[in-house]
Amino acid sequence: MFDLSKRAVVLTGATGNIGPTVLRAYLAQGAHVAIPVRDEAKGTALRESLGDLAGTPEDPRVIVRAADPGDRGAMEAFVEQVLRAWGRVDIVANLIGGYAASDAGTGDVAAYRAYWDQKVATIVNATTACLRPMRARGYGRVVSVASTAALKGERGAAGYAMANAALLRWTESLADELKREGITANCVLPRIIDNAENRAAMPKADPSRWATAAEIAAVVVFVSSDEASGLTGVAIPVMART
Ligand SMILES: NC(=O)c1ccc[n+]([C@@H]2O[C@H](COP(=O)([O-])OP(=O)(O)OC[C@H]3O[C@@H](n4cnc5c(N)ncnc54)[C@H](OP(=O)(O)O)[C@@H]3O)[C@@H](O)[C@H]2O)c1
Repeated sequence: MFDLSKRAVVLTGATGNIGPTVLRAYLAQGAHVAIPVRDEAKGTALRESLGDLAGTPEDPRVIVRAADPGDRGAMEAFVEQVLRAWGRVDIVANLIGGYAASDAGTGDVAAYRAYWDQKVATIVNATTACLRPMRARGYGRVVSVASTAALKGERGAAGYAMANAALLRWTESLADELKREGITANCVLPRIIDNAENRAAMPKADPSRWATAAEIAAVVVFVSSDEASGLTGVAIPVMART
């Protein structure tokens, strides 16, 4: 579909629900993918699940290293390792997130801040660590998976909506700063993704209406492609059939 055979991707949040599908989608387009993980055992299991697709120790197509995206120094060191292996970072794709309910009316600032730390601080750290090599080459793609909650707050999801909205605004600012440097920055906004947690939480819903991991991955890969050069500072809702 798209030729990413010369591209090195830093993929954060790869150990979650959609991570393996997004990882395989990048590999299917020929990309090399480097994955920072908090939990080395999860990272090893993810790499082993790929079999030959991960390449060989002499010529890896997937690198997995322990590095906490919340720690800027750790992410700088991670990017140095990627540069030593492949000499470039072209794409950073952020899947980091999760869901935590929090009411607006309680004014639970600690809960809002915790979700901000999980969603925004991590993605800002991971992305900015990748910018130096991107700027040096005059090429880059930043794509972060946020949520349609960024567009409109809903009851019980105040902190989630606030953090996702903050990620959008930061991405727009980044896109504006980088628009003459060959680097784009965009968000992808799923509404609901079909996974076991959502099926358990919403047993009466029809999961065939929800976006599949493959549908999210296809949009992430497109936004990462050379062909998406005209797209920057935007947030793409993926409503699927809801
Ligand atoms: N599921 C949905 O219906 C839905 C809807 C809209 C938007 N989204 C968004 O889509 C994205 C992907 O969804 P998903 O279902 O694959 O998410 P997920 O299964 O919850 O995966 C979350 C990923 O983020 C990482 N992570 C969580 N907290 C972190 C932290 N503090 N520091 C570093 N890494 C952290 C996790 O790493 P560990 O393995 O180390 O925990 C994991 O790799 C998420 O951002 C989610 O918010 C999901």
